[in-house]
Amino acid sequence: MGTSGRRLSDEILISEERIGERIRELAGEIAAETPADGEIAALIVLKGAFVFAADLLRAIPRRVRVGFLETHRDPTRPGLADFVFTYPFPIEGADLLVIEDILDTGHTLKHLQSRMTARRPARVRTAVLLDKKPRREVEVPVEYVGFDIPDLWVVGYGLDDGERYRNLKEIRFMRDE
Ligand code: IMP
Ligand code: MG
Repeated sequence: MGTSGRRLSDEILISEERIGERIRELAGEIAAETPADGEIAALIVLKGAFVFAADLLRAIPRRVRVGFLETHRDPTRPGLADFVFTYPFPIEGADLLVIEDILDTGHTLKHLQSRMTARRPARVRTAVLLDKKPRREVEVPVEYVGFDIPDLWVVGYGLDDGERYRNLKEIRFMRDE
């Protein structure tokens, strides 16, 4: 039962098996594009990306440094977001890999990328598990995308509806009741 007149779908949108396969592919691509003696500075966007990042990073056979940041959107000012690092995370000169759960309108990632670029990393790559293309309002360059999905409110595998369902192994969606 959902919180506000909606409920969890019986239907599975993306199964645990498909997620696992796709993550191994993405990890292979990321590793292939990272020098064998390099170090990835992985920046995990909380909260939604924590499950994806845990699986993705463990499948990349490279040295990895991990940082976390929380994003906050201001609903009255679309396009503007604020970021808070949970702990200092040096970015200058780093091989930065931003890991986000889902690309929706694009405002959050766009803003995040420009703020990270200002800190002068050696390069910035971005990995997102899901891309909700029909909802895009601003163009955002993303190197690694797990799955394209339709305009649904998806939950599971880190994604929530009012903080619920993050622990589902598969991706489902919310239906109106
Ligand atoms: P945007 O791209 O700036 O519109 O915002 C993306 C953020 O909105 C993501 O990081 C998620 O936290 C959240 N979000 C967007 N769509 C969904 C969804 O379908 N389920 C759960 N969270 C979502
Ligand atoms: Mg998020």
